[in-house]
Amino acid sequence: MHLPTKINILSLSLLLASTANAKLNQLAKNAGKLYFGTATDNGELNNTQYVSILSDRREFGQLTPANGMKWEYVEPEPGVFNYTDGSVVANLATKNHQLLRCHNLVWHSQLPDWVPNTNWTKETLKAALIDHVTHEARHWASQCYAWDVLNEALNEDGTYRNDTFYAVLGEEYIKIAFKAAAEADPTAKLYYNDYNIESPGPKSTAALGIVTMLQEAGLRIDGVGLQSHFIVGSTPTIDQQISNMKSFTDLGVDVAITELDIRLLLPSNATNLQQQSKDYEASVGACVQVEGCVGITVWDFWDPVSWVPGVFAGYGDADLWFANFTKHPAYYGVEAALKNGTHKGFKG
Ligand code: G3I
Repeated sequence: MHLPTKINILSLSLLLASTANAKLNQLAKNAGKLYFGTATDNGELNNTQYVSILSDRREFGQLTPANGMKWEYVEPEPGVFNYTDGSVVANLATKNHQLLRCHNLVWHSQLPDWVPNTNWTKETLKAALIDHVTHEARHWASQCYAWDVLNEALNEDGTYRNDTFYAVLGEEYIKIAFKAAAEADPTAKLYYNDYNIESPGPKSTAALGIVTMLQEAGLRIDGVGLQSHFIVGSTPTIDQQISNMKSFTDLGVDVAITELDIRLLLPSNATNLQQQSKDYEASVGACVQVEGCVGITVWDFWDPVSWVPGVFAGYGDADLWFANFTKHPAYYGVEAALKNGTHKGFKG
Protein backbone atom coordinates (compact mmCIF):
# COMPACT_ATOMS: atom_id res chain seq x y z
CA MET A 1 0.00 0.00 0.00
CA HIS A 2 1.26 3.47 -0.86
CA LEU A 3 1.43 5.52 2.32
CA PRO A 4 0.92 9.27 1.86
CA THR A 5 4.02 11.21 2.77
CA LYS A 6 3.90 14.28 4.98
CA ILE A 7 4.43 16.48 1.94
CA ASN A 8 1.53 14.82 0.10
CA ILE A 9 -0.75 15.37 3.06
CA LEU A 10 0.37 18.98 3.25
CA SER A 11 -0.24 19.66 -0.45
CA LEU A 12 -3.61 17.87 -0.30
CA SER A 13 -4.74 20.00 2.61
CA LEU A 14 -3.53 23.16 0.86
CA LEU A 15 -5.50 22.18 -2.24
CA LEU A 16 -8.63 21.50 -0.21
CA ALA A 17 -8.24 24.80 1.59
CA SER A 18 -7.88 26.68 -1.67
CA THR A 19 -10.94 24.93 -3.16
CA ALA A 20 -12.94 25.62 -0.01
CA ASN A 21 -12.23 29.35 -0.20
CA ALA A 22 -12.23 29.66 -3.97
CA LYS A 23 -14.66 31.94 -5.77
CA LEU A 24 -16.55 31.25 -9.00
CA ASN A 25 -13.90 32.14 -11.59
CA GLN A 26 -11.23 30.25 -9.66
CA LEU A 27 -13.52 27.22 -9.45
CA ALA A 28 -14.36 27.47 -13.17
CA LYS A 29 -10.66 27.44 -13.99
CA ASN A 30 -10.09 24.47 -11.67
CA ALA A 31 -12.87 22.72 -13.62
CA GLY A 32 -10.94 23.31 -16.87
CA LYS A 33 -13.00 26.27 -18.11
CA LEU A 34 -11.55 29.56 -19.36
CA TYR A 35 -13.70 31.81 -17.20
CA PHE A 36 -16.77 32.48 -15.11
CA GLY A 37 -17.96 35.94 -16.11
CA THR A 38 -20.74 38.50 -16.00
CA ALA A 39 -22.40 41.14 -18.11
CA THR A 40 -22.28 44.67 -16.77
CA ASP A 41 -23.35 48.14 -17.86
CA ASN A 42 -22.09 51.68 -17.56
CA GLY A 43 -24.91 52.89 -15.28
CA GLU A 44 -23.96 50.47 -12.53
CA LEU A 45 -20.33 51.43 -12.28
CA ASN A 46 -20.87 54.24 -9.78
CA ASN A 47 -21.81 51.70 -7.06
CA THR A 48 -18.59 50.93 -5.21
CA GLN A 49 -19.83 47.73 -3.57
CA TYR A 50 -21.02 46.45 -6.96
CA VAL A 51 -17.75 47.37 -8.65
CA SER A 52 -15.63 45.69 -6.00
CA ILE A 53 -17.39 42.36 -6.65
CA LEU A 54 -17.35 42.91 -10.43
CA SER A 55 -13.63 43.62 -10.41
CA ASP A 56 -12.69 40.67 -8.19
CA ARG A 57 -10.99 38.37 -10.66
CA ARG A 58 -11.40 35.42 -8.30
CA GLU A 59 -15.17 35.81 -8.82
CA PHE A 60 -15.38 37.04 -12.44
CA GLY A 61 -12.71 36.38 -15.04
CA GLN A 62 -14.69 37.81 -17.94
CA LEU A 63 -16.95 40.81 -18.65
CA THR A 64 -19.55 41.49 -21.37
CA PRO A 65 -20.87 45.02 -21.98
CA ALA A 66 -24.68 44.67 -21.87
CA ASN A 67 -25.33 47.64 -24.17
CA GLY A 68 -22.41 49.90 -25.12
CA MET A 69 -21.18 47.94 -28.16
CA LYS A 70 -24.59 47.70 -29.83
CA TRP A 71 -25.15 49.36 -33.21
CA GLU A 72 -27.32 52.24 -31.89
CA TYR A 73 -24.45 53.40 -29.65
CA VAL A 74 -21.54 52.65 -31.98
CA GLU A 75 -22.87 53.97 -35.32
CA PRO A 76 -25.79 56.27 -34.49
CA GLU A 77 -25.55 58.01 -37.89
CA PRO A 78 -24.27 56.39 -41.10
CA GLY A 79 -20.47 56.40 -41.05
CA VAL A 80 -20.31 58.21 -37.67
CA PHE A 81 -18.66 55.92 -35.10
CA ASN A 82 -18.72 56.42 -31.33
CA TYR A 83 -16.84 54.01 -29.10
CA THR A 84 -17.25 55.96 -25.85
CA ASP A 85 -19.90 53.81 -24.12
CA GLY A 86 -18.47 50.44 -25.18
CA SER A 87 -14.97 51.42 -24.12
CA VAL A 88 -16.03 51.95 -20.51
CA VAL A 89 -16.56 48.21 -19.91
CA ALA A 90 -13.84 47.16 -22.37
CA ASN A 91 -11.26 49.27 -20.56
CA LEU A 92 -12.42 48.10 -17.14
CA ALA A 93 -11.92 44.48 -18.24
CA THR A 94 -8.44 45.33 -19.53
CA LYS A 95 -7.56 47.12 -16.29
CA ASN A 96 -8.81 44.16 -14.23
CA HIS A 97 -7.08 41.54 -16.47
CA GLN A 98 -10.48 40.02 -17.28
CA LEU A 99 -11.41 38.51 -20.64
CA LEU A 100 -13.85 40.57 -22.72
CA ARG A 101 -16.74 39.05 -24.66
CA CYS A 102 -17.75 41.71 -27.16
CA HIS A 103 -21.50 42.01 -27.81
CA ASN A 104 -22.66 42.47 -30.60
CA LEU A 105 -21.99 43.36 -34.22
CA VAL A 106 -25.29 42.52 -35.96
CA TRP A 107 -28.72 42.30 -34.30
CA HIS A 108 -32.28 43.18 -35.33
CA SER A 109 -32.75 45.13 -32.07
CA GLN A 110 -31.18 48.32 -30.69
CA LEU A 111 -30.49 49.55 -34.20
CA PRO A 112 -30.41 53.29 -34.90
CA ASP A 113 -33.48 54.43 -36.91
CA TRP A 114 -31.48 54.90 -40.10
CA VAL A 115 -30.87 51.18 -40.49
CA PRO A 116 -34.51 50.00 -40.75
CA ASN A 117 -35.66 53.28 -42.35
CA THR A 118 -33.28 53.53 -45.33
CA ASN A 119 -34.56 52.39 -48.71
CA TRP A 120 -31.79 49.84 -49.26
CA THR A 121 -30.68 47.95 -52.34
CA LYS A 122 -28.65 44.76 -51.90
CA GLU A 123 -25.49 46.65 -52.81
CA THR A 124 -26.01 49.60 -50.45
CA LEU A 125 -26.96 47.43 -47.45
CA LYS A 126 -24.07 45.05 -48.07
CA ALA A 127 -21.69 48.02 -48.10
CA ALA A 128 -23.20 49.47 -44.90
CA LEU A 129 -23.02 46.11 -43.13
CA ILE A 130 -19.39 45.54 -44.08
CA ASP A 131 -18.56 49.10 -43.05
CA HIS A 132 -20.17 48.70 -39.62
CA VAL A 133 -18.66 45.31 -38.84
CA THR A 134 -15.22 46.29 -40.11
CA HIS A 135 -14.97 49.56 -38.20
CA GLU A 136 -16.30 48.16 -34.94
CA ALA A 137 -14.39 44.86 -34.93
CA ARG A 138 -11.16 46.66 -35.90
CA HIS A 139 -11.61 49.22 -33.14
CA TRP A 140 -11.67 46.64 -30.33
CA ALA A 141 -9.49 44.05 -32.08
CA SER A 142 -6.84 44.00 -29.38
CA GLN A 143 -9.36 43.61 -26.57
CA CYS A 144 -12.05 41.10 -27.56
CA TYR A 145 -11.60 37.46 -26.55
CA ALA A 146 -14.78 36.74 -28.52
CA TRP A 147 -17.34 38.60 -30.62
CA ASP A 148 -21.04 37.85 -30.81
CA VAL A 149 -20.95 38.56 -34.54
CA LEU A 150 -24.62 37.76 -35.04
CA ASN A 151 -27.29 37.85 -32.36
CA GLU A 152 -30.78 36.30 -32.41
CA ALA A 153 -31.26 35.76 -36.16
CA LEU A 154 -33.82 32.98 -35.74
CA ASN A 155 -37.54 32.67 -35.05
CA GLU A 156 -38.78 30.02 -32.62
CA ASP A 157 -39.71 27.64 -35.47
CA GLY A 158 -36.18 27.80 -36.86
CA THR A 159 -36.92 30.10 -39.80
CA TYR A 160 -34.88 33.27 -40.21
CA ARG A 161 -36.15 36.42 -38.53
CA ASN A 162 -37.34 38.75 -41.29
CA ASP A 163 -35.40 41.84 -40.18
CA THR A 164 -33.92 44.49 -42.48
CA PHE A 165 -30.79 42.42 -43.13
CA TYR A 166 -32.64 39.24 -44.07
CA ALA A 167 -35.40 41.01 -46.00
CA VAL A 168 -32.89 42.72 -48.30
CA LEU A 169 -29.97 40.29 -48.48
CA GLY A 170 -31.41 36.90 -47.47
CA GLU A 171 -29.12 34.36 -45.77
CA GLU A 172 -26.16 36.00 -47.51
CA TYR A 173 -26.05 38.73 -44.84
CA ILE A 174 -24.79 36.18 -42.32
CA LYS A 175 -21.85 35.25 -44.53
CA ILE A 176 -21.11 38.92 -45.18
CA ALA A 177 -21.01 39.67 -41.44
CA PHE A 178 -18.78 36.72 -40.48
CA LYS A 179 -16.38 37.34 -43.40
CA ALA A 180 -15.99 41.02 -42.47
CA ALA A 181 -15.52 40.17 -38.77
CA ALA A 182 -12.84 37.56 -39.53
CA GLU A 183 -10.94 40.04 -41.69
CA ALA A 184 -11.21 42.86 -39.16
CA ASP A 185 -10.27 40.81 -36.09
CA PRO A 186 -8.29 37.67 -36.92
CA THR A 187 -7.86 36.64 -33.28
CA ALA A 188 -11.28 37.05 -31.63
CA LYS A 189 -13.44 33.93 -31.48
CA LEU A 190 -16.45 34.54 -33.72
CA TYR A 191 -19.82 33.46 -32.28
CA TYR A 192 -23.44 33.08 -33.25
CA ASN A 193 -25.50 33.92 -30.10
CA ASP A 194 -29.18 33.19 -29.41
CA TYR A 195 -31.82 32.25 -26.79
CA ASN A 196 -34.02 29.14 -26.73
CA ILE A 197 -31.30 27.12 -28.41
CA GLU A 198 -30.23 25.49 -25.11
CA SER A 199 -32.05 22.20 -25.71
CA PRO A 200 -32.66 20.17 -28.86
CA GLY A 201 -35.51 21.48 -31.04
CA PRO A 202 -36.21 23.37 -34.27
CA LYS A 203 -34.44 26.56 -33.22
CA SER A 204 -31.33 24.73 -32.04
CA THR A 205 -31.34 22.69 -35.27
CA ALA A 206 -31.48 25.93 -37.26
CA ALA A 207 -28.52 27.31 -35.25
CA LEU A 208 -26.58 24.15 -36.15
CA GLY A 209 -27.55 24.97 -39.75
CA ILE A 210 -25.98 28.44 -39.46
CA VAL A 211 -22.72 26.82 -38.30
CA THR A 212 -22.64 24.32 -41.20
CA MET A 213 -23.71 26.95 -43.73
CA LEU A 214 -20.73 29.15 -42.75
CA GLN A 215 -18.33 26.20 -42.61
CA GLU A 216 -19.42 25.01 -46.07
CA ALA A 217 -18.83 28.53 -47.41
CA GLY A 218 -15.25 28.33 -46.07
CA LEU A 219 -15.92 31.04 -43.49
CA ARG A 220 -14.80 31.11 -39.87
CA ILE A 221 -17.23 30.52 -37.02
CA ASP A 222 -15.64 29.51 -33.72
CA GLY A 223 -18.50 29.20 -31.30
CA VAL A 224 -22.18 29.29 -30.45
CA GLY A 225 -23.48 31.28 -27.50
CA LEU A 226 -26.32 29.71 -25.54
CA GLN A 227 -27.88 32.74 -23.86
CA SER A 228 -29.81 30.72 -21.23
CA HIS A 229 -32.45 33.20 -20.02
CA PHE A 230 -34.48 30.70 -18.04
CA ILE A 231 -37.49 30.51 -15.69
CA VAL A 232 -37.18 28.79 -12.30
CA GLY A 233 -38.68 25.29 -12.44
CA SER A 234 -38.90 25.09 -16.23
CA THR A 235 -35.31 25.03 -17.43
CA PRO A 236 -34.12 22.28 -19.79
CA THR A 237 -32.75 19.25 -17.94
CA ILE A 238 -29.02 18.83 -17.54
CA ASP A 239 -29.06 15.92 -20.00
CA GLN A 240 -30.89 18.02 -22.59
CA GLN A 241 -28.35 20.82 -22.13
CA ILE A 242 -25.40 18.44 -22.37
CA SER A 243 -26.64 16.68 -25.49
CA ASN A 244 -27.50 20.01 -27.10
CA MET A 245 -24.03 21.42 -26.34
CA LYS A 246 -22.48 18.30 -27.84
CA SER A 247 -24.46 18.67 -31.06
CA PHE A 248 -22.57 21.97 -31.55
CA THR A 249 -19.15 20.83 -30.35
CA ASP A 250 -19.46 17.80 -32.69
CA LEU A 251 -19.31 20.33 -35.53
CA GLY A 252 -15.93 21.53 -34.25
CA VAL A 253 -17.09 24.80 -32.65
CA ASP A 254 -16.95 25.89 -29.00
CA VAL A 255 -20.05 26.63 -26.98
CA ALA A 256 -20.43 29.06 -24.10
CA ILE A 257 -23.27 29.95 -21.77
CA THR A 258 -23.40 33.66 -22.56
CA GLU A 259 -26.31 35.32 -20.71
CA LEU A 260 -27.40 33.03 -17.87
CA ASP A 261 -30.16 34.24 -15.55
CA ILE A 262 -33.06 32.30 -14.03
CA ARG A 263 -36.04 34.43 -13.10
CA LEU A 264 -38.66 33.57 -10.51
CA LEU A 265 -42.23 34.66 -9.85
CA LEU A 266 -41.88 37.20 -7.04
CA PRO A 267 -41.77 37.16 -4.09
CA SER A 268 -38.85 34.85 -3.56
CA ASN A 269 -39.15 32.30 -0.77
CA ALA A 270 -37.20 29.28 0.47
CA THR A 271 -38.91 26.97 -2.05
CA ASN A 272 -38.39 28.95 -5.26
CA LEU A 273 -34.85 29.96 -4.26
CA GLN A 274 -33.98 26.31 -3.67
CA GLN A 275 -35.36 25.39 -7.09
CA GLN A 276 -33.40 28.28 -8.62
CA SER A 277 -30.25 26.89 -7.05
CA LYS A 278 -30.90 23.46 -8.61
CA ASP A 279 -31.60 25.10 -11.99
CA TYR A 280 -28.37 27.14 -11.92
CA GLU A 281 -26.48 24.02 -10.84
CA ALA A 282 -27.84 22.05 -13.81
CA SER A 283 -26.83 24.65 -16.44
CA VAL A 284 -23.39 25.27 -15.01
CA GLY A 285 -23.02 21.51 -14.45
CA ALA A 286 -23.78 20.86 -18.12
CA CYS A 287 -21.01 23.24 -19.18
CA VAL A 288 -18.61 21.61 -16.72
CA GLN A 289 -19.29 18.22 -18.26
CA VAL A 290 -18.83 19.24 -21.92
CA GLU A 291 -15.22 19.80 -22.83
CA GLY A 292 -15.98 22.26 -25.63
CA CYS A 293 -18.03 24.50 -23.32
CA VAL A 294 -15.44 27.17 -22.62
CA GLY A 295 -17.14 29.29 -19.98
CA ILE A 296 -20.22 30.69 -18.31
CA THR A 297 -21.40 34.31 -18.26
CA VAL A 298 -24.29 35.50 -16.07
CA TRP A 299 -26.38 38.39 -17.46
CA ASP A 300 -25.33 40.58 -14.58
CA PHE A 301 -24.98 39.29 -11.05
CA TRP A 302 -26.97 41.80 -8.96
CA ASP A 303 -30.80 41.75 -8.93
CA PRO A 304 -31.41 45.54 -8.96
CA VAL A 305 -29.71 45.91 -12.36
CA SER A 306 -31.27 42.87 -14.04
CA TRP A 307 -33.22 43.46 -17.26
CA VAL A 308 -35.88 40.94 -16.09
CA PRO A 309 -38.36 42.99 -13.97
CA GLY A 310 -38.63 45.65 -16.70
CA VAL A 311 -39.61 43.09 -19.32
CA PHE A 312 -41.44 40.30 -17.43
CA ALA A 313 -43.98 41.82 -15.03
CA GLY A 314 -44.03 40.02 -11.67
CA TYR A 315 -40.71 38.24 -12.24
CA GLY A 316 -37.32 39.06 -10.78
CA ASP A 317 -34.56 37.92 -8.43
CA ALA A 318 -32.97 36.21 -11.42
CA ASP A 319 -29.32 36.83 -10.50
CA LEU A 320 -26.83 35.50 -7.94
CA TRP A 321 -26.70 38.48 -5.54
CA PHE A 322 -29.74 40.06 -3.81
CA ALA A 323 -30.21 43.84 -3.62
CA ASN A 324 -28.48 43.92 -0.21
CA PHE A 325 -25.44 42.14 -1.70
CA THR A 326 -26.04 38.86 0.12
CA LYS A 327 -25.77 35.79 -2.09
CA HIS A 328 -28.69 33.75 -3.40
CA PRO A 329 -28.71 30.04 -2.54
CA ALA A 330 -28.09 29.69 -6.30
CA TYR A 331 -24.56 31.04 -5.79
CA TYR A 332 -23.84 27.85 -3.84
CA GLY A 333 -25.55 25.76 -6.54
CA VAL A 334 -23.14 27.24 -9.07
CA GLU A 335 -20.27 26.62 -6.68
CA ALA A 336 -21.32 22.97 -6.26
CA ALA A 337 -21.57 22.48 -10.03
CA LEU A 338 -18.12 23.94 -10.58
CA LYS A 339 -16.63 21.85 -7.78
CA ASN A 340 -18.24 18.54 -8.59
CA GLY A 341 -19.73 18.68 -12.04
CA THR A 342 -23.08 17.51 -10.88
CA HIS A 343 -24.44 14.30 -9.44
CA LYS A 344 -27.16 14.10 -12.06
CA GLY A 345 -26.74 13.57 -15.79
CA PHE A 346 -24.05 11.72 -17.66
CA LYS A 347 -20.33 12.42 -17.94
CA GLY A 348 -19.30 13.88 -21.28
O1 G3I B 1 -29.61 54.39 -23.24
C1 G3I B 1 -30.96 54.77 -22.89
C2 G3I B 1 -30.92 55.98 -22.03
O2 G3I B 1 -30.38 57.05 -22.77
C3 G3I B 1 -32.34 56.29 -21.56
O3 G3I B 1 -32.30 57.36 -20.67
C4 G3I B 1 -32.94 55.08 -20.85
C5 G3I B 1 -34.38 55.30 -20.45
O4 G3I B 1 -35.11 54.12 -20.35
O5 G3I B 1 -32.92 53.99 -21.74
C6 G3I B 1 -31.60 53.64 -22.12
O6 G3I B 1 -31.65 52.52 -22.97
C7 G3I B 1 -31.96 51.29 -22.37
C8 G3I B 1 -30.75 50.37 -22.49
O7 G3I B 1 -31.05 49.06 -22.06
C9 G3I B 1 -29.56 50.88 -21.65
O8 G3I B 1 -29.90 50.94 -20.31
C10 G3I B 1 -33.14 50.69 -23.11
O9 G3I B 1 -34.32 51.45 -22.85
C11 G3I B 1 -33.36 49.25 -22.69
O10 G3I B 1 -34.35 48.67 -23.54
C12 G3I B 1 -32.07 48.46 -22.85
O11 G3I B 1 -32.30 47.14 -22.41
C13 G3I B 1 -31.31 46.21 -22.80
C14 G3I B 1 -31.89 45.14 -23.70
O12 G3I B 1 -30.88 44.20 -24.01
C15 G3I B 1 -32.45 45.70 -25.00
O13 G3I B 1 -32.99 44.65 -25.77
C16 G3I B 1 -30.78 45.56 -21.53
O14 G3I B 1 -30.13 46.55 -20.73
C17 G3I B 1 -29.79 44.46 -21.91
O15 G3I B 1 -29.43 43.76 -20.75
C18 G3I B 1 -30.46 43.51 -22.88
O16 G3I B 1 -29.57 42.49 -23.25
C19 G3I B 1 -30.06 41.50 -24.15
C20 G3I B 1 -28.87 41.03 -24.98
O17 G3I B 1 -28.26 42.13 -25.61
C21 G3I B 1 -29.30 39.98 -26.01
N1 G3I B 1 -30.04 38.90 -25.40
C22 G3I B 1 -31.14 39.27 -24.52
C23 G3I B 1 -30.66 40.25 -23.45
C24 G3I B 1 -31.76 40.59 -22.48
O18 G3I B 1 -32.80 41.30 -23.11
